[in-house]
Amino acid sequence: MEKLKIVGGNRLYGEVKISTAKNAILPIMAASLLINGETKILDFPHFSDCYTMLEILEKFGAKTSIVNESVKIESTNIKSFVIETSLAEKMRSSFFTFGAILARCGKAIFSYPGGCNIGSRPVDMHIKAFKDLGIDIVEKHGYIYAERKNFSGGVVYLDFPSVGVTENVMMLACTLNGLTVIKNPAKEPEIVDLQNFLNCAGAKIEGAGTDVITIQGVGKLLNGISYTCIGDRIIAGTYAIATSCVGGIVKLNNINPTHLQDLIDKLRKADICVIESKDSISIIAERRPTSIPIVQTMPYPYFPTDLQSQFTVMQSISKGNSIIVENIFESRLGYVSQLTKMGAKIKVKNNIAFVEGVETLLGAEVYAPDLRAGAGLVIAGLCAKGYTTINNVHFIDRGYESIEKELSSLGANIIREKNN
Ligand code: UD1
Repeated sequence: MEKLKIVGGNRLYGEVKISTAKNAILPIMAASLLINGETKILDFPHFSDCYTMLEILEKFGAKTSIVNESVKIESTNIKSFVIETSLAEKMRSSFFTFGAILARCGKAIFSYPGGCNIGSRPVDMHIKAFKDLGIDIVEKHGYIYAERKNFSGGVVYLDFPSVGVTENVMMLACTLNGLTVIKNPAKEPEIVDLQNFLNCAGAKIEGAGTDVITIQGVGKLLNGISYTCIGDRIIAGTYAIATSCVGGIVKLNNINPTHLQDLIDKLRKADICVIESKDSISIIAERRPTSIPIVQTMPYPYFPTDLQSQFTVMQSISKGNSIIVENIFESRLGYVSQLTKMGAKIKVKNNIAFVEGVETLLGAEVYAPDLRAGAGLVIAGLCAKGYTTINNVHFIDRGYESIEKELSSLGANIIREKNN
């Protein structure tokens, strides 16, 4: 068990190369199971979730290796189509291999996935979508048993544009023989990245990023694919918000600004100067931010739930009052009790946080309740007066390579310590 120790108050200056996006590489690693041969993914990010995904791929029979910052996944001998509870519960994205395993083996037996403690996170929409594609599915004794008897595609209508369901359907459908249409799919940049990866491997997918995705099944995919995923918009957003809170000048490289447009618009409204280029964002923060009256999390292209806690921290030290509405996950405001220990004035009612901006936070010992809220608490520590200790750093390590090294390189006073 490790903790982060922060002495707040340092402004941030410098440049950071943003890592490969966790939410792009995880489904793309899952999609490598579709390929009867080797897949190479460049710029492998050292997030603990990526290592968990490697463990899952190996359980199915894939051979994996990390060489010179690339990961190689050899999926010629997929032997298993079962994922047991102990592994499935390690992360939500274990379920992102469901479509690929069903495509590859014709069957799948999966335990229910785990993940961050941010809400109930059911898989009912995944199951409905697979049923729409003619898959036989039975749920019993804590497992989902699925069998593919139908090889033609179908029409999948999503009541809510779920990221994981869209990706699972894309993976299964590209190996069928007929046409599949996904209506109301998720439009996140990571969906477009998955489409690009699958099309590089010979799939015929169009429409990712729009209201309809069409997938012309091609039976089998090519092998020998080498691919570089997009940069992580949530990490970039976290560092953009951190700089806006503490002040300074920071350039974030390897990030497409259009992937963060809603955040960039809000930062500008909060009096932060943001300069966009083709693949970088620069933040110039010279004064205390001004509150944004209402922020609501919504599916892309609107404000991402994965930046909600970080932005709430910014609102807590901004001039004025604001309201944050969390619309995606029902329990994603649990971290607020940690933030109020640091002097934030926030009241929570159901999925809404009412924030009264204070001039400064005060350092305290806090506990990261999940990955993104942990990043939010790091930002709080950077702005607070005095010492902050953040416990449960393993949650943050799921999606940040080494948050303390990246922030120290920008001038923050932050170190990692082992618990006694
Ligand atoms: C992905 C992201 C996660 C992000 C989330 C929303 C990855 C690896 N993870 O998660 O970081 O926070 O999108 O942008 O890409 N739902 C159901 N039934 C289902 C599936 C989803 O009710 O079968 C609900 C969820 O509980 C949630 C909403 O739909 O309320 C959105 O979830 P979804 O888009 O599926 O999130 P994930 O793909 O799990």
